[in-house]
Amino acid sequence: MTPTRLTTRALHVAAAATLLCASLSARAGEVEVLHYWTSGGEAKAASALKATLQGKGHSWKDFAVAGGGGDSAMTVLKSRVVSGNAPAAAQIKGPSIQEWGNEGVLANLDDVAKANNWDALLPKVVSDVMKHKGHYVAVPVNVHRVNWLWANPEVLKKANAKMPTNWDEFFVTAEALKKAGVIPVAHGGQNWQDFTTFESVALGVGGADFYRKALVQLDAGSLKGATMQKVLTTFRKVKGYTDKNAPGRDWNLATAMVIRGEAGMQLMGDWAKGEFIAAGKAPGKDFLCAAAPGTANAFTFNIDSFAMFKIKNTANLQAQKDMAAAIMSPEFQETFNLNKGSIPARLNMDMAKFDDCAKLSSKDFVATAKSNTLVPSIAHGMAVSSAAEGAIKDVVSQFWNTDSMTPEQAMDRLVAAAKTK
Ligand code: GAL
Repeated sequence: MTPTRLTTRALHVAAAATLLCASLSARAGEVEVLHYWTSGGEAKAASALKATLQGKGHSWKDFAVAGGGGDSAMTVLKSRVVSGNAPAAAQIKGPSIQEWGNEGVLANLDDVAKANNWDALLPKVVSDVMKHKGHYVAVPVNVHRVNWLWANPEVLKKANAKMPTNWDEFFVTAEALKKAGVIPVAHGGQNWQDFTTFESVALGVGGADFYRKALVQLDAGSLKGATMQKVLTTFRKVKGYTDKNAPGRDWNLATAMVIRGEAGMQLMGDWAKGEFIAAGKAPGKDFLCAAAPGTANAFTFNIDSFAMFKIKNTANLQAQKDMAAAIMSPEFQETFNLNKGSIPARLNMDMAKFDDCAKLSSKDFVATAKSNTLVPSIAHGMAVSSAAEGAIKDVVSQFWNTDSMTPEQAMDRLVAAAKTK
């Protein structure tokens, strides 16, 4: 090849490379992501989301607000949006998606959803939550099961105790652990953790129909009655098996107590499994998972999702859409949920890499949808308005923390709190 032709060819290649870089850099955007995944397992899952976005050629601006359950994150989000400085994406879920949608601040994702066939890829119970007035405004990353009981098998063995399947057995096991000198129940005294325990007791003692009527429909006759009285009495009995340092403890520190064998059991959603996995523990060997007592035929769901906000910097619009599309990809749904402890939101996923806890969760998710025992978690923002949720959580925590409060007084306050708009 003559020098002239070589030079010409080199120039063509250089020009093409420049154009390609220019187009990539022109398309490359930034997504600022508000989330509250800061514990061991959560952070690993969040890094999977970050890597997915970066894999699309975009940059991730991390806006993590620590605080299990997300109350702090939602407070910060409100201040950001009010000041006209919304992040591009935020971890928003359940009825609060409707509340934000009504504010007119969420971006429409219908083009991404249609191009990627989301309606066919998601169970209706999931896609319904992601839509505001029939339009997609959020994308689901997972399905967490909340009604789980976690235990350290070695500690159970030392106490000659077994994994309980109902609340009577739970207290037998708790008593045996206490006698063996182990903290029976690892708990963190924060209102969302108190309610996580409360709603599993309500589901186990009262069943799915009672749970729905009392805690989702907020029916006064169910909030104040013999079944709720039994739920509250059982709930208070659980407190007797927690330790004096429980108040204010973060949920993942409670999980760490079970991992280290200082405590025998924890009632918590399966993000706790993310902590066991991050600590290198194996299900069935180092920790046990089972439905919370009396709830094996029911499933309390908590779907994490990201809503995209309308943004002024249109250079980042494509990055937002690419992030939404990537979240629904099989690759992300697998990698993220293997780390997070949850199961994919996307249907027909290959569960081969998932452990037995996740496989049980996936099987029960389908079964309970059919048997109408699939219920939304109140503790995790899936069931009622933010205002009502906050009010009834406060009553339940007051009852947990005030030994002098009677179930009757608590029920009267629940009925009043349920009316909060
Ligand atoms: C839930 C959230 C989970 C997990 C948990 C503890 O509300 O949906 O993803 O993060 O809080 O922070």
